[in-house]
Amino acid sequence: GDVGAGEQVFSANCAACHAGGQNVIMPEKTLQKDALTQYLSGGMKEGSVVMQVTNGKNAMPAFGGRLSDDDIANVASYVIDQASGDKW
Ligand code: HEM
Repeated sequence: GDVGAGEQVFSANCAACHAGGQNVIMPEKTLQKDALTQYLSGGMKEGSVVMQVTNGKNAMPAFGGRLSDDDIANVASYVIDQASGDKW
């Protein structure tokens, strides 16, 4: 996916709960490398982020049907790029 486009999707749809890669609802479940490795179903991979964003999990809403498949792929690329590069 397109990391730059994903950053825009993130700002518009994710930053309310995940500004700076944090998590305002479940503070331990950040978008940083260690937390994604520990908590994200399927591990720290773009496909795992796509699954969680599409389907939601607990208090995180599902974005399938609200965001396009391209937007979801792009935001997943952005999240993994940020986490893998320790950019948050
Ligand atoms: C967890 C991404 C929007 C609330 C996560 C995780 C990812 C993620 C990758 C796994 C983090 C981990 O397990 O350490 C995104 C993206 C979003 C988005 C890319 C936008 C498309 C939101 C919004 C909210 C939210 C808007 C709040 C209304 C949560 C919560 C969790 C979570 C509560 C923990 C879920 C659980 O394991 O019980 N998010 N998120 N997210 N997110 Fe989001």
